[in-house]
Amino acid sequence: MGAFFAPKRIPYDPKAPLHVQVAQSFEVSRRNLGIERIDALVLHSPLFPYRDLLELWRAMEALDVGQLGISNCYDLPLLQRLYGDALVKPALVQNRFYAESGYDHVLRQWCDTNGVLYQSFWSLTANPHILASEALQEMARLRGVSAAQIFYAYLIAEGITPLNGTTNEAHMHDDLEVFDIALTCKEIEQIGGLPGA
Ligand SMILES: NC(=O)c1ccc[n+]([C@@H]2O[C@H](COP(=O)([O-])OP(=O)(O)OC[C@H]3O[C@@H](n4cnc5c(N)ncnc54)[C@H](OP(=O)(O)O)[C@@H]3O)[C@@H](O)[C@H]2O)c1
Repeated sequence: MGAFFAPKRIPYDPKAPLHVQVAQSFEVSRRNLGIERIDALVLHSPLFPYRDLLELWRAMEALDVGQLGISNCYDLPLLQRLYGDALVKPALVQNRFYAESGYDHVLRQWCDTNGVLYQSFWSLTANPHILASEALQEMARLRGVSAAQIFYAYLIAEGITPLNGTTNEAHMHDDLEVFDIALTCKEIEQIGGLPGA
């Protein structure tokens, strides 16, 4: 269902009607996860033309899941249109958190106003310049934590849910500790004002 890449093994018949693709993909995910009920089902990226996106969304709406979401959606008018037409509203947006999108500033404000959760990915990968900045390094040094932890604490303070796919146990511990890091308003402003941030 993703428009950005075409993996070699896809869990549905790409020639089948969209609603069938959705149902097939959903069943494969459920089997792979080994669970009865899926908490959140996220569409990897918008589909074009819009009528295809809406058809696909309708198929997602018919499934028994906790929440529906959309990923790689940087176009606010498109998100608003989908939100307006959806019977089950997108509960979350999952986007790459990077300078090229202006860190989704406007889109995030809209999500906030409309109760849509904003999840960031590539939070660390796309922002080595922020992690290496003197400001973050100093905040980390003062607290005896890492720059990555400071950045996660900043994202959470901004109302963002940073995704984390670490397989490293030490990082898992570090990343869970970020909820205890209280940044000051000045520090939050400082990170938000970094060049490229
Ligand atoms: N919707 C989409 O299109 C999309 C695209 C990409 C990713 N995602 C999802 O986003 C999640 C996060 O993946 P990402 O690629 O975005 O990761 P990321 O936040 O850019 O992090 C990159 C790497 O940083 C390391 N890391 C984690 N905690 C750290 C810490 N405290 N200090 C230093 N390094 C740390 C991890 O490697 P180690 O294992 O070495 O700790 C991690 O793989 C994944 O679950 C993935 O499924 C979604």
